[in-house]
Amino acid sequence: MKQICVVGVGYVGLVTGACFSDLGNRVIALDVNEQRIENLKKGIMPIYEPGLEELVRRNVKAGRLSFTTDYAEALQGTEFVFIAVGTPSGVNGEADLQYVASAAESIARNMSAPLIIINKSTVPIGTGDWVADIVKRAQPRPIDFSVVSCPEFLREGSAIGDFMNPHRTVIGSFDREAANKVAQLHLPLRAPIVITDLRTAEMIKYASNAFLATKISFINEIAEICEAYGADVKEVAAGMGYDARIGRHFLDAGLGWGGSCFPKDVKALAYMAEEKGLNPRILHSVMQVNYDRRRDVVKWTESLLGGLRGKTIALFGLAFKPNTDDMRDAPSIDIAQALTAAGATVRAYDPVAMDAARVILPAVQMCSDPYEAATGADAVIVVTEWNEFKQLDLEKLKALLKTPIVMDARNIYEPARMREMGFQYRAIGR
Ligand code: NAD
Ligand code: UGA
Repeated sequence: MKQICVVGVGYVGLVTGACFSDLGNRVIALDVNEQRIENLKKGIMPIYEPGLEELVRRNVKAGRLSFTTDYAEALQGTEFVFIAVGTPSGVNGEADLQYVASAAESIARNMSAPLIIINKSTVPIGTGDWVADIVKRAQPRPIDFSVVSCPEFLREGSAIGDFMNPHRTVIGSFDREAANKVAQLHLPLRAPIVITDLRTAEMIKYASNAFLATKISFINEIAEICEAYGADVKEVAAGMGYDARIGRHFLDAGLGWGGSCFPKDVKALAYMAEEKGLNPRILHSVMQVNYDRRRDVVKWTESLLGGLRGKTIALFGLAFKPNTDDMRDAPSIDIAQALTAAGATVRAYDPVAMDAARVILPAVQMCSDPYEAATGADAVIVVTEWNEFKQLDLEKLKALLKTPIVMDARNIYEPARMREMGFQYRAIGR
């Protein structure tokens, strides 16, 4: 049993804290957001993530997990401190490191014994050295510490399973002893452990996210070509995926990638390259192909309807992907705003993201289920592939719509069946 402090109780920090406590460690999770900590003490989760509430409850009850806003209390007796604060996009696409800097300063001011500071946030190459500098300068008196990079690869919506069963654990440090201690902490996860230097570990994270985003943009470009020539991109992806060198994952064509990670990380990697005078051509194309999908889906809906002014469009799904309430850079935002700007009325239903979406999209009418959203609408756009949309009563849906038009931007329905049923149906690359 080790004592661990996790700084930041968002998607990564809270999952990290809950999972490490479930593995038998004593975890104190800290955040500067007092409301979040107050709520967590009452068992109220700050985010929607399947299985998280139960995991947190169980470990709090067992006395292994607790919450605080007080750095001195959180660091008392702690050997490992994970930084898991946000690193959003800055104005020029660079990663904004203000939260990392402030966490590092607070750790430095409040540590009372040697510490291993582990950076779990996704940070630009060189940040580990920069954090070490901040800590050294902010310490009231010199106390030993090491900075280790241990990037996180979990996905929202399956975060606990991903954390507990990672494909690999990446550990970067110049301090071999600290790296080995961090490796020991991760041994129960039984994944291959890559120990490398700080900068390489930081780069592995960006390169991984950028590669996955590239795969998705690639299949979306293939989808366009499929459509032009009458091939089916779903079958193309399946056929490609049998080749182990390619793999089937991240080849679902549709609306492209959104969320709090790929958009900011691809941008930040391009920024890093440009800062060194390089021209990241692939990254720029990957972003362009991706963002074109959102515009294209609106354009295709417009052409199916013969214009958008005065029309009512039902959006099925708002979150950037299923099983999360995260609306950060969700394609639904650009789509809803473009539809509204073109004079359409937008109604929407999402199983968990409507509270978060209401703040961002005040003009969108939120509905209590997909049928209510579709009632009297001129068209449906499937934006997020929530399971509950896959088995809808399609006859009922057709009867409720003013015109039976479905823009299936996540390829969840079978084109032949939809057309047989009398829908005017458009999918992506099929
Ligand atoms: P988030 O916005 O959900 O949570 C960040 C938390 O940090 C917030 O609760 C905030 O109040 C807190 N915070 C900010 N400054 C603080 C400070 N000085 N001290 C204490 N707490 C502070 O962020 P997230 O989605 O969990 O992402 C965190 C990092 O992990 C980012 O760098 C992200 O790129 C990376 N990441 C995210 C995911 C994901 O699926 N969300 C996956 C892998 C990596
Ligand atoms: C992604 C990575 O998958 C994680 O490994 C990483 O840790 C995380 O970013 C991060 O660094 O924060 P996440 O954004 O939660 O995780 O979700 P994904 O499942 O990767 O989906 C990202 C976006 O790509 C979603 O908008 C999804 O709809 C889209 N996507 C995904 C596709 O369009 N097609 C696919 O085949 C797969």
